Amino acid sequence: MRYLIVSLLLVAPHVAFAANEVPALKEVFGAKFLVGAAIEPAQLRNPTDAALLKRHFSSLTAENVMKPHRLAPREGEYNFAPADELVRFARANGMRLRGHTLLWHRNAPAWFFVGDREQVRKRLERYITDVVTHFKGEVYAWDVVNEVASDNAGELYRQTPWFLALGPDYIEYAFRAARAADPDTQLFINEYDTEEADKRERFMTIVRDLRKKGVPLDGVGHQVHTRIGASAAGVDRALREVAELGLTNHVTELDVSLYHDPGSCWENETGCQRDYGSAVPPALLSQQALLYRQLFAVFEKHPTLKSVSTWGISDAHTWLSRFPTKRTNVPLLFDQAGAPKAAFHAVVDPAFAIP
Ligand code: XIL
Repeated sequence: MRYLIVSLLLVAPHVAFAANEVPALKEVFGAKFLVGAAIEPAQLRNPTDAALLKRHFSSLTAENVMKPHRLAPREGEYNFAPADELVRFARANGMRLRGHTLLWHRNAPAWFFVGDREQVRKRLERYITDVVTHFKGEVYAWDVVNEVASDNAGELYRQTPWFLALGPDYIEYAFRAARAADPDTQLFINEYDTEEADKRERFMTIVRDLRKKGVPLDGVGHQVHTRIGASAAGVDRALREVAELGLTNHVTELDVSLYHDPGSCWENETGCQRDYGSAVPPALLSQQALLYRQLFAVFEKHPTLKSVSTWGISDAHTWLSRFPTKRTNVPLLFDQAGAPKAAFHAVVDPAFAIP
């Protein structure tokens, strides 16, 4: 009997899998790219999450604990312990670690911005040197800057505290300090909505400018926080434009939201789409599975794409249940119990019929 099952699996690997028999994401895609997940350290102590990580994922990203306000709430005082837990887990399980993120406008601690331009620049360089040095040999790719492009037509750079203090050069200072601290780690610029034409145009102008100045940039991170009903074509285009510059691509924060909100929902929680609560229409999960399948088909076409990370492990823990508003959202490949969803089957098995 066991023999029969084994041979059936060998002949027809796509017939209905029991949960523990599903193929591992990192094996299905391993020849092409790493498969990663963003996590909080506490998730390493959750048996379901830890099992999913070990079985399916080959890369980790800190969802929050490597951001500046967490690593250095006060000048010169570092809190590396939570991030070091991720370092140890990644090492023990043969996983890679992406560093996220050296500079970000959100939660940028106020202590950075005290004093004149020269003082601010020195603090930026000191911080990056200390942090990159601490994780040297452990973090193979850093998001050096995150979300630096503006969302507004006619404006290139987001008006961040960094931009206001130092002008656009802050980006260059950050990359050069990171390279000096660890010549072997790969340096990325990470951005959202690169799949949208307008945003991509502004963003790619910044990327090309950095290249022209000889800034040590190795790759582009595309967050790909997308939603059902969106198309995979924009992602394809974004990956192609980056590849044409000779840079590496990473997909850094993939999730597929059930909701399509106007900008106002993100700005001040008005006009957000209504919460599905406990009654998520099954048709939405089918649409989600279809988009995930289309996205992974695009990913597989791009040899410059070396890593694809989802922003979370399973629907039990996702930032989208709090952002842009508190609401049920199930944007990942595994459900709240950690079981593979239709979206999972759709990406690993081309023959899977999406219900
Ligand atoms: C989010 C985290 O998931 C939340 O827990 C936190 O409160 C805010 O940040 N783009 C990014 C990520 O680059 O760092 C963000 O992570 C999600 C959007």
